[in-house]
Amino acid sequence: MFAASRIASVASKRAFSTSAANLSKVAVLGAAGGIGQPLSLLMKQNPHVTELSLYDIVNTPGVAADISHINTNSTVKGYTAENDGLKSALEGAHVVIIPAGVPRKPGMTRDDLFNTNASIVRDLAEASAKYCPDAHFLIISNPVNSTVPIFAETLKKAGVFNPKKLYGVTTLDVVRASRFVAEVKGKDPKDCKVTVVGGHSGVTIVPLLSQTGESFTKEQLDALTHRIQFGGDEVVQAKNGTGSATLSMAFAGARFASSVLDATVGGKKGVVEPSFVQSDLFKDQGVEYFSSNIELGPNGVEKINGLGEISDYEKELISKAVPELKKNITKGNSFVQ
Ligand code: NAD
Ligand code: LMR
Repeated sequence: MFAASRIASVASKRAFSTSAANLSKVAVLGAAGGIGQPLSLLMKQNPHVTELSLYDIVNTPGVAADISHINTNSTVKGYTAENDGLKSALEGAHVVIIPAGVPRKPGMTRDDLFNTNASIVRDLAEASAKYCPDAHFLIISNPVNSTVPIFAETLKKAGVFNPKKLYGVTTLDVVRASRFVAEVKGKDPKDCKVTVVGGHSGVTIVPLLSQTGESFTKEQLDALTHRIQFGGDEVVQAKNGTGSATLSMAFAGARFASSVLDATVGGKKGVVEPSFVQSDLFKDQGVEYFSSNIELGPNGVEKINGLGEISDYEKELISKAVPELKKNITKGNSFVQ
């Protein structure tokens, strides 16, 4: 009896470890880019990742060969469009992270990237629907407020959309907000958690500074809010035509992807991250997707947290964010429909 149950337990452990191993292939699409390279480097250090699959239209063999020498347990493969590379990159993927597309130059808004990035994201969504429909999809490519609806509509067309597994990556906004508040308050950023809701561009980025437990003068509130909403522009200006945030984005993207892995293959409970997901929070105002803190579980989005108590100042910010978000989402939806 004892022997039989022990064998059963060994067998079930084996079955678990085999399926867990199969489950943690992570694909990065746009892996040779400014975000893709450092993001792939960070994912190589994640112990949940068993296979790192790097896809780009150029330069992936070199990036993959380089990262593959790092002595962590995952294998690394690089693919380009040749020889059905996208298919091989995606098949069996548990998580697909997408930073493919062009970045901004000074003077551009994220929406100005729509014409180029919309079709890139749609094409990658079509391939994802075909080769790994059950994966978790993390969308970094801008404009996120529109690329997430594009990805969703494409998956819907293919009949494989699962709203629990599609995330617009807005982590950089909370990373920045934490850093900026810490600077103002002279504190360690780890003690400055800031909830940021809405979307990922300008006025759609709404920091809930009233929930930080800190007090701010009106000037500080205005300055911090503006800096969090337009932090991306600071980097675009500083890079002076050579791109937008890549390193801080890789940090933020790896944090979000690691949280998804912790919750979906690591069995961790109570994992909460902000993300732009299909949400009912502002559905009555015609906004289908909204970023707020979400609780992640084994199957992806488990619970979407509401905004909680917010100040009149923040209500005003939300009222400016909603119409802009609605416009961006409609634009994404219409592109596919
Ligand atoms: P980049 O130009 O350095 O890299 C983009 C990569 O995508 C390139 O290597 C390019 O070859 C590749 N690519 C283009 N078309 C492709 C396709 N069809 N399939 C696969 N790969 C393809 O740009 P970047 O700085 O890495 O930025 C990438 C995107 O991320 C931009 O749209 C940028 O605006 C966005 N971004 C988002 C956030 C966010 O918070 N969500 C933050 C920073 C940047
Ligand atoms: C960011 O917030 O840094 C990114 O969305 C890139 C950009 O265009 O600002």
